[in-house]
Amino acid sequence: MVNRGTYHSRTSITARFFSRKPSPFASTLQIFCIFAFSIVLFLFYTRNSLEDEQKQPYFFKQSQFNEADLLSDMQTSDGKLWDAPFSYGVHPCIKPTAKFKAAMGSDHYMTVRSNGGLNQMRTGISDMVAVAHILNATLVIPQLDKRSFWHDSSTFSDIFDELYFIETLRGDVQIVKELPRELEALPRARKHFSSWSGVSYYEELTQLWKDYQVIHVAKSDSRLANNDLPLDIQRLRCRALYHALRFAPSIESLGKKLVERLRSRGGRYIALHLRYEKDMLSYTGCTYGLSDTESEELRIMRENTKHWKVKKINSTEQRAGGLCPLTPKEVGIFLRALGYPPSTLIYIAAGEIYGGNTHLMELTSRFPNVVFKEALATQEELRAFANHASQTAALDYIISIESDVFVPSYSGNMARAVEGHRRFLGHHKTISPDRKGLVEVFDMLENGQLEESMLSHLVWQMHEDRQGAPRERRGPIQGIKGRGRFRTEEAFYENPYPECICTSKRHFE
Ligand SMILES: *[C@@H]1O[C@H](CO)[C@@H](O)[C@H](O)[C@H]1NC(C)=O
Ligand SMILES: *[C@@H]1O[C@H](CO)[C@@H](O)[C@H](O)[C@H]1NC(C)=O
Repeated sequence: MVNRGTYHSRTSITARFFSRKPSPFASTLQIFCIFAFSIVLFLFYTRNSLEDEQKQPYFFKQSQFNEADLLSDMQTSDGKLWDAPFSYGVHPCIKPTAKFKAAMGSDHYMTVRSNGGLNQMRTGISDMVAVAHILNATLVIPQLDKRSFWHDSSTFSDIFDELYFIETLRGDVQIVKELPRELEALPRARKHFSSWSGVSYYEELTQLWKDYQVIHVAKSDSRLANNDLPLDIQRLRCRALYHALRFAPSIESLGKKLVERLRSRGGRYIALHLRYEKDMLSYTGCTYGLSDTESEELRIMRENTKHWKVKKINSTEQRAGGLCPLTPKEVGIFLRALGYPPSTLIYIAAGEIYGGNTHLMELTSRFPNVVFKEALATQEELRAFANHASQTAALDYIISIESDVFVPSYSGNMARAVEGHRRFLGHHKTISPDRKGLVEVFDMLENGQLEESMLSHLVWQMHEDRQGAPRERRGPIQGIKGRGRFRTEEAFYENPYPECICTSKRHFE
């Protein structure tokens, strides 16, 4: 439920690519192109991991697959399932450098309309803190998105601890609750900032202060580049997101309570972000395993949602490309193959699962200890959260951060934000499914091309390096020109290493 508004663009590029009805010649050409592209990707990643290996040899050596692992596949050791990856003593580092000065912009103001779901807004707001600093502006507490898919009317202070936000960032930027009354009637410079902009873009915009006292920002998501920003700006983003943007006390306290209840049930738990919700399936055009009626319902929803540009999607191709959220059944097979026993406690961090029990059953038949927030909290406790999707998403966020293992079924905004935060807090285990590889293996299994006994080995091999161990953030895929290249970068908040996560040698703070 947490990702909405603009969805992640990697999906839409590919979806657009697949959206035309091809002639036989075009299909052959397309298949050839995909093949050639795969080789380029393969070469790129091989090269890239070699580069990483030279820079930080020890990070990668521990995760080499060896004979002993092969033998222990079937009885995966407890530690392998639950322990955080070895973190080599890296630690958070978010203090400003000696050069850093607070922005005191006392008579210039920036108002912001934040857009998207909870996690898109949180990262967007953190970026706006950094932008206000670059612009030397006083930031007015942002307005939240009330028009997005989930129609949540919550205000900033309903979701976040507003005073704490203002106080925590006092040494960085001035933040006020409201625009001073005398400025309300003044004309504002209304800006739609370019996506993924650097510091020079914003420094040029300070020219606006000559004519205006207030800049209004129409959208807050992905307005700031992931990379090539000054260290102090990157660290400010981390201070904003990981320290200042705390949830409101009522949300924090219920979140903590639910974590305690989970712990009292089974000790350890997996938080599964099962992004198998109607909007996501409709948007991605993924209908694998659904009935004709369901597929049709999703298609109609996509047709009728104006801001989703891609309408015709071939579900088979989408799935084969690794662009679909894993189904509840696929997640069940995946977790069993990794070696999690059927008794494992799994918290579902998600909204309403599409098709309800009919689809969920294929997960719960493998893992009977699946719990939803409705089973953990009393009706009374949840009453205040009803019809406030962002607030329930915040509960899911807290429970996901605190979990022993976090598994997202799709790489959306929540998955990325939680993964990054867990990296920041000490590289807690996050297993990112290799969806493209997995569906290939599942299909082979279904077609009898693969022995069931080989599954576990294959799945482990595929995910040995996808457990959330420390590594530097990935840059853009090379060879992609222009702005498109930014879309291929790993997001700053998905992995704030190296700016906000340091080795002991560097800036011990
Ligand atoms: C920031 O704004 C304040 C007050 O508006 C001004 O005194 C200061 O010089 C500005 N700083 C920079 C770096 O422009
Ligand atoms: C979808 O793509 C698959 C594989 O490329 C193809 O076999 C199938 O006919 C396509 N379906 C439609 C409805 O175009």
